[in-house]
Amino acid sequence: MPDVISFARGAPAPEALDGGLIARCTEAALAADPTVILSYGTGGGYPPLREWLAAHHGTTADRVIITNGSLEGYVFLLEAFLSPGDLIGLEAPTYDRALLQAQMHGMEILAIPMEDDGMDVDALAAACASGRVPRVVYTIPNFQNPAGTTISLEKRRALVALAEQYDFWILEDDPYGHLRFEGETLPSVYEIGGPERVMFSSSFSKTLAPGLRVGYLIAPPDIVTTLTTRANQTYISPAHLPEAAVFEVCDRGLLEPNIARVTELMRVRRDAMAAGLPLMPEGTVCTPPEGGFFMWLELPDGMSADALLPVAQEAGVVYVAGSACFTEGHHNTLRLAYSGVSPEEITIGMERLGRVFAGA
Ligand SMILES: Cc1ncc(COP(=O)(O)O)c(C=O)c1O
Repeated sequence: MPDVISFARGAPAPEALDGGLIARCTEAALAADPTVILSYGTGGGYPPLREWLAAHHGTTADRVIITNGSLEGYVFLLEAFLSPGDLIGLEAPTYDRALLQAQMHGMEILAIPMEDDGMDVDALAAACASGRVPRVVYTIPNFQNPAGTTISLEKRRALVALAEQYDFWILEDDPYGHLRFEGETLPSVYEIGGPERVMFSSSFSKTLAPGLRVGYLIAPPDIVTTLTTRANQTYISPAHLPEAAVFEVCDRGLLEPNIARVTELMRVRRDAMAAGLPLMPEGTVCTPPEGGFFMWLELPDGMSADALLPVAQEAGVVYVAGSACFTEGHHNTLRLAYSGVSPEEITIGMERLGRVFAGA
């Protein structure tokens, strides 16, 4: 069997991980602040990074909690801010772990269909009008995982207006927004709706390195306090050493050049994958994204990406079956991550995939 090429992992390629940068910044952090970094810290995260993030987002540090990856902040919110049985609005499709965690925490899920320009806000409005008002709507605004889409400015505004009308929270999760290949950067939902309507989370996993496990959430101070208590009860304090290294990267102005470098690596990979799209079966629908890590494919009706996954694996290529990103159905969809493999591997992987689908 050929070596398996994985389009399944939404992780940066090895070339994107700058070990030298992290080593230098870790050393500098330890030299500057060894006692704080090496002691038990505060549940909310390494204070200088909290301050830096607060300034970066035009807010105050009491509104920032740093967690061991941003997924953990989302899980704390499910546990401490929501209760089992609460209605949570999730894009359909959405990030599979966000869906899984909502299900594991007993949430009732309002699936909001996705369109080419982001979630169908009219469908959400109709649900609200019929009495199904979510407590929180979770959205991934830019280069969505898994659909690759970006929500338009008009819809960002409409979503905020709806949240105000029906008094629900929006959680904007934006780990990919900085990785834009082309097109115009839009104002965040957080900027449009403000901090009393929108919570914002992001991560250094995609722009720097996922192994650092540094993500954060911006929320009102009372929610941050509740979540910090939850963090403190769970692990006392998040790992301060990687947070301090991230702080050094940010404070020295080294994040932006790294983002530019990673963005270029990802753009080349997006192009390599787009070049393989003609190998997919006739009738396959895919709009290559303007940034981020993912390409989303809808195979012709009747084809099942779930059923074909073991066949693809046997042929040496794997992907995420799109059905994992929905509460039900959509077996003809799949997510291809171009982020973690080389352009050469992408070319070979797309050829293998084309043969698997052609033989189905
Ligand atoms: C939309 C989204 N949110 C959160 C995460 C998790 O990020 P972290 O590594 O910071 O936990 C991911 C990772 O794939 C993601 O795609």
